[in-house]
Amino acid sequence: PDLFTPERRNSEGFDLTDAPTLARIDAARDEHSATDFSGQPLICGKVKGLAPRAALNPATGARVGRVTDAAPEDVETALAAARPWSAPVEERARILNRAADLYEENFGPFFALLAREAGKTLPDAVSELREAVDFLRYYAARAKAITAAPAGVFACISPWNFPLAIFSGQIAAALATGNAVLAKPAEQTPLIATLAAGLLLKAGVPASALQLLPGDGATVGARVTSDPRVNGVCFTGSTETALIIRRAMAAHLAPGAPLIAETGGLNAMIVDSTALPEQAVRDVIASSFQSAGQRCSALRCLYVQEDIAPHFTEMLFGAMEELTLGDPWSLSTDVGPVIDAEAEAGIRAHVETARREGRLLRQLSVPRGGHFIAPSVIRVRGIADLGREIFGPVLHLATYRAEDLPKVIADINATGYGLTFGLHTRIDNRVQEVCEALHVGNIYVNRNQIGAVVGSQPFGGEGLSGTGPKAGGPEYLARFTRPEAVPQAG
Ligand code: SER
Repeated sequence: PDLFTPERRNSEGFDLTDAPTLARIDAARDEHSATDFSGQPLICGKVKGLAPRAALNPATGARVGRVTDAAPEDVETALAAARPWSAPVEERARILNRAADLYEENFGPFFALLAREAGKTLPDAVSELREAVDFLRYYAARAKAITAAPAGVFACISPWNFPLAIFSGQIAAALATGNAVLAKPAEQTPLIATLAAGLLLKAGVPASALQLLPGDGATVGARVTSDPRVNGVCFTGSTETALIIRRAMAAHLAPGAPLIAETGGLNAMIVDSTALPEQAVRDVIASSFQSAGQRCSALRCLYVQEDIAPHFTEMLFGAMEELTLGDPWSLSTDVGPVIDAEAEAGIRAHVETARREGRLLRQLSVPRGGHFIAPSVIRVRGIADLGREIFGPVLHLATYRAEDLPKVIADINATGYGLTFGLHTRIDNRVQEVCEALHVGNIYVNRNQIGAVVGSQPFGGEGLSGTGPKAGGPEYLARFTRPEAVPQAG
């Protein structure tokens, strides 16, 4: 049951172990295996656009579609046309629910694009569509309890790693509370964004309340975060970019304009000597290599208690050998490519440094072509050695002695990040102690540490990892509204 909205249930998604379901997905997805998709600004006015560019499949290099990014004039047209959505909350909720239905009906093109444009495996694509649908329905349901007025115009700036779920979640929250949205999708995933925004408009969101502005940070992002007609910004991406946005907002927007930022993480997991090794290995593999490690929640630094480390790492390396790398279109693929050449080069340089220094413990082999990084394990003394978030299938491994656990916790806190954390132990009061000592948004015990569920696991971090409130949780919508004036007598 849903803890926060009893009248609403999360979507059922698709059961990939069911042969008829799989056949239905295959048929729907195959129809779009060669479609030349198009991405463009959707604005309330005439589009000027920049010169079209090709969108390329990160696994194969093949063309996926044609993208027209917004020209500076298009950003201006959208800003001038933006109007908060004045329909009553019941109607807004109805339209967002209708959009969720349209998303579900369009699983074929979504799954095709999630593989071809974003490099997502089918299980990841299924989870992503579910999460998008859940965000739409959850915020629609929650909005009915909100009486405050919308902030006004919200800029929603979303990342390529959840090009459908986070893109839709930000927009749904802003729209459910009656704001107008200027949505800037990631440069890498404009085709998915165009398909999704088109469905939101088709469901009945007015064109003046939702405008899509594909483009880069300089042309679109910088403009929409430094224009006084914008009343709030919702951003998911790097901590560095969040700080640039905060400075731009401070210089140009009203002092009270909210920034809701979900940023990076340096996420750790501790496996102590009482953990069930089979379960912990499975959860380490999922947390670090699923989605090719391209989740802000992903495990980056694993601490294994010294006593069990030799046996545990042997099991871990054995399990890694079972992973299949390749084109995510194939159902046998576990790990797809990273998003683009720049990501590939940055991660590769990090792994090569470790190799030169003799710290690369294990690396799988990688398929030819495409932006593939082989799942790798690098030895470190502790989390401080990572320096920065490596956004790919690279796990850092440290061992610790039982008496050093407090120092490990202190080191994790000292990174300043605080997004996710995993703990594998069978000592009950250790769970309590560790949870109390860590400054982390989402802690997972004896399971993997990715894939927070809308409505039951609100998601978001502390410190350098974000501003809160948590997405998919009961506090989220209030930040999209204006503080309420309460008339007082006397
Ligand atoms: N919400 C996502 C997860 O929990 C964020 O990366 O994995």
